[in-house]
Amino acid sequence: MSDILREEIAGEGVLELSIHRPESLNALNIQVLEELRKKLEFIAKEESVRVLILRGAGEKAFVAGADILEMQKMNRSEAARFSRLGHEVCLLLEQMPKVTIAAVHGFALGGGTELALACDFILASEKAQFGLPEVSLGVIPGFGGTIRLSRNLGVARAKELIFSGDRIKADEANQLGLIRKVLSHDGFFDQVRAFATKISGNSLDAIVAGKRLLNEFEESAGIYPKVDAESHRFSSLFETVDQKEGMAAFSEKRSPRFRGMRGSA
Ligand code: CAA
Repeated sequence: MSDILREEIAGEGVLELSIHRPESLNALNIQVLEELRKKLEFIAKEESVRVLILRGAGEKAFVAGADILEMQKMNRSEAARFSRLGHEVCLLLEQMPKVTIAAVHGFALGGGTELALACDFILASEKAQFGLPEVSLGVIPGFGGTIRLSRNLGVARAKELIFSGDRIKADEANQLGLIRKVLSHDGFFDQVRAFATKISGNSLDAIVAGKRLLNEFEESAGIYPKVDAESHRFSSLFETVDQKEGMAAFSEKRSPRFRGMRGSA
């Protein structure tokens, strides 16, 4: 295993797991997702962990999305596999018998917002920014964003964020109900750790019973057909002129010129 994931005990029963690819703003490539899946499967069974804090390394980002430079080279079936891998990671976070907290101190875009949405809580610093900019790359969210955003905010707000691709600041995300709380940037991670340690002192058996029930009420058990549908739609956009243009434009640091005007995807 590489050192792309770093972990630290952050309190009694609290593990802090950090995605460490700061040069790419912690973008999620296949390697990160595979290591994350393995690590989360392990943590799910690890008795000493009651609360998991997920964070990004470096000053700027939680996670700036799926790795666009890697996606740029994918064909449809590779994109479908990539989307399913992202879903597996998010489902592990959503369903594991632990409390999961996304600690967002900077950009959480695309797959970054999606990863955070799969956690039980999102705590954000004043400098955090959220958004689903996939349409500016010629694709749609592929790690559960269409499902969890509409579930948490309602369809109208989900459409607004997904169709506009706008980035929103922590305060607005809080007003929308996307996140649990905005904390000051100074001492942010200490505040997250204190919150995690407080929860860790409660009965994990009781918390997990509550988590399973709340997930059932929120139709987590019925999420699988939606996950398949999203992976299908996401990957169907690969190899199209707009996906090629959108991702080429990102790697060439220019604005995209989209031509797919028929809405036939
Ligand atoms: N994938 C790959 N590399 C990325 C990346 C990503 N998602 N986000 C940032 N990087 C890289 C940049 O290419 C840059 O690399 P170089 O230094 O080698 O040029 C480095 O990280 C720093 O980024 P910037 O110079 O762009 O930093 P900035 O402060 O000017 O801008 C930003 C920050 C607004 C987050 C900008 O980097 C950005 O817009 N990133 C892309 C965000 C995005 O579109 N995410 C959605 C991805 S699609 C997705 O997630 C699909 C899905 O649902 C599965």
